[in-house]
Amino acid sequence: MSDAKLQSVLSSLSQVHRQLNSLPSNAAADDECIKLNTNENPFALPAPVLESAVAALERQYLYPEDDNVSLRDAAAASYNLSRDQVIAGNGSSELLSLIYKAFLDPGDTLAMLSPGFAYNHKLALLQGARLLEIRWGETCLLPIRKLLFGPAKEAKFILLANPNNPTGTFVPIADIESLVAQSDRLIVVDEAYVDFAPDSALRLVDRYPNLLLLRTFSKSYAAAGIRIGFGLGHPEVIGRLRNIQNMFNMNVIGHAVGVSILAHQTAYAENHRHIQYERVRVNFALSQLGFSVTPSHTNFLLVRVPAGRDGAWWQTCLKRKKILVAVLPDEGLEDCIRVSIGTKPQMDAFLAAVEDILGSETSQRSAV
Ligand SMILES: Cc1ncc(COP(=O)(O)O)c(C=O)c1O
Repeated sequence: MSDAKLQSVLSSLSQVHRQLNSLPSNAAADDECIKLNTNENPFALPAPVLESAVAALERQYLYPEDDNVSLRDAAAASYNLSRDQVIAGNGSSELLSLIYKAFLDPGDTLAMLSPGFAYNHKLALLQGARLLEIRWGETCLLPIRKLLFGPAKEAKFILLANPNNPTGTFVPIADIESLVAQSDRLIVVDEAYVDFAPDSALRLVDRYPNLLLLRTFSKSYAAAGIRIGFGLGHPEVIGRLRNIQNMFNMNVIGHAVGVSILAHQTAYAENHRHIQYERVRVNFALSQLGFSVTPSHTNFLLVRVPAGRDGAWWQTCLKRKKILVAVLPDEGLEDCIRVSIGTKPQMDAFLAAVEDILGSETSQRSAV
């Protein structure tokens, strides 16, 4: 195709991509990098889960099961719900995107607790919806009155993550219940990091038709690359999402691994203990070095860097040392980095790199 023709075709299409280009993207990692920027869980699958993945490969010529029935059954049994209260997704991000498509018309408003999971900005933009950001209260409390009586009243649904990304903070389930009980809106609670936290809102799903929970196996079950997520809620709400879902949204490996993880959740106890231990260790070590770290209920730390440099500067310095961390687009978090908790050797390498960078800063300052 000639350049002129390509330009004419491109300009005749929607220009929504221009707005998306301005959103931050995660740099691609080369294999030598220690990847601490997207909150993966860098451990092998437990042996029986891995075996289920390999066995599923032998069914590669078949389409995956329609409507994810066996996986939804397994999740329903594990979460003490019925199949029609469960939708299975190609990761929870697929389910987030279905929620926007199913429940928002262009021009509608949704409310999100802020700072929150940045991907929601992209989803709102694609749907032509207005994302109303409601700040978390002091020390990341749930601002219930603001959500019930403020401008959030206009929102079609309210979205929050508990524990929250990027702060790592957790609000008590009693507060979530208070919001859900008093609100006449759909409340979407994204529990991507719940297995690293002290409690979950799962027990509320049967009690409140306006609560929709999201879960993922990307973080606590080390399966980010396999793409398994769940939505748990009232059958009418779940049914509307299932109605607009692509057929064969998951693949045979995702189905098999999902069912197997649900059957072997206890095999992850050591993994979760490791992450909880390392996040305390790394928090302490960083605090000793002059960083300020928010206590976390997730597999990552929100780290405020020492005065004088911002998060982007630290991200660049660490990247030169082949360590990837995230910076956040949110107002007020310019001097922060978000660091995933990896293996002990990965966290040792991260801490050594931080000390190195601090050391060269000090020697540069004293040379001036
Ligand atoms: C709060 C939150 N929700 C959802 C997701 C998406 O997870 P998944 O891999 O299931 O799409 C993430 C990933 O970082 C997240 O932090």
